[in-house]
Amino acid sequence: MTEAYVHGYHAKENERLRDQAGALVDLLHSDTHYPAGSRVLEVGCGVGAQTITLAQRSPEARFTSIDISEASLAQAAERLTRAGCTNVAFQRADIFALPFGAAAFDHVFVCFVLEHLARPVQALALLHRQLRPGGTITVIEGDHGSTYFHPDSAAAHAAIQCQVALQRTAGGNALIGRQVYPLLVAAGFSAVRVSPRMVYVDSSRPHLVDGFTRKTFTAMIEGVRAPAIAAGLIEAERFDAGIRDLYRTAEADGVFCYTFFKGVGEATVSS
Ligand SMILES: C[S@@+](CC[C@H](N)C(=O)[O-])C[C@H]1O[C@@H](n2cnc3c(N)ncnc32)[C@H](O)[C@@H]1O
Repeated sequence: MTEAYVHGYHAKENERLRDQAGALVDLLHSDTHYPAGSRVLEVGCGVGAQTITLAQRSPEARFTSIDISEASLAQAAERLTRAGCTNVAFQRADIFALPFGAAAFDHVFVCFVLEHLARPVQALALLHRQLRPGGTITVIEGDHGSTYFHPDSAAAHAAIQCQVALQRTAGGNALIGRQVYPLLVAAGFSAVRVSPRMVYVDSSRPHLVDGFTRKTFTAMIEGVRAPAIAAGLIEAERFDAGIRDLYRTAEADGVFCYTFFKGVGEATVSS
């Protein structure tokens, strides 16, 4: 993967992930709660944008939050300390070389990570081994193909396609949300259930206009301007027109829709 646009490593991107998490807390997390004493592995915690919600909503569960990036982990730890959370241990680790024993956890939580991996089924199969039989995995991913808006704009769709193409070139998949069910099944999970979580934004929901349409989605697409133009995917003028049109959807008569997919599966006894 190139670092130019892999999410999570740059200051602006970290700010975007925090805005995203703030705007979407209820939509994504309202039904995530871990019992007292349960051991939860959060994979790819980044700067802790989801960690803080997980830890606060399940204050008596014990979280181990891992990431491959030392810098992100440091920010996450600082953030959780500032919030007074004491139920999270941070550790640097690679999903593909986890330092824990088999069945070390009751639950695994993965959010916006599979989209960056070239081998998501292998990653999920390795996470399956970390769970005790009957333990659960929760996976949340977006899908840029679920994006539609008013006023519609071919230039805006073209700018979004640049992000999709660049992520594909980096080995990831910005359209992975629609695959959460088959990926979990292929990795050996049972009782898999996926629920689509649609973000619907119009100007009667000002916190989402700002927190999602502007600062999350459009900021993410805007962030690929330089690599998209450098790769010859689009002309600068067309890309800029697309970004203008995405911001246009955040005006009083604009509407923006996007769907996340949240899947939950159980580890089978034979894991
Ligand atoms: C888009 S960020 C998501 C962060 C966080 N889960 C959130 O929802 O805000 C993806 C994270 O996955 C981490 N990551 C990518 N590949 C990884 C790997 N092989 N092992 C562990 N973490 C990884 C990145 O460092 C990054 O922090």
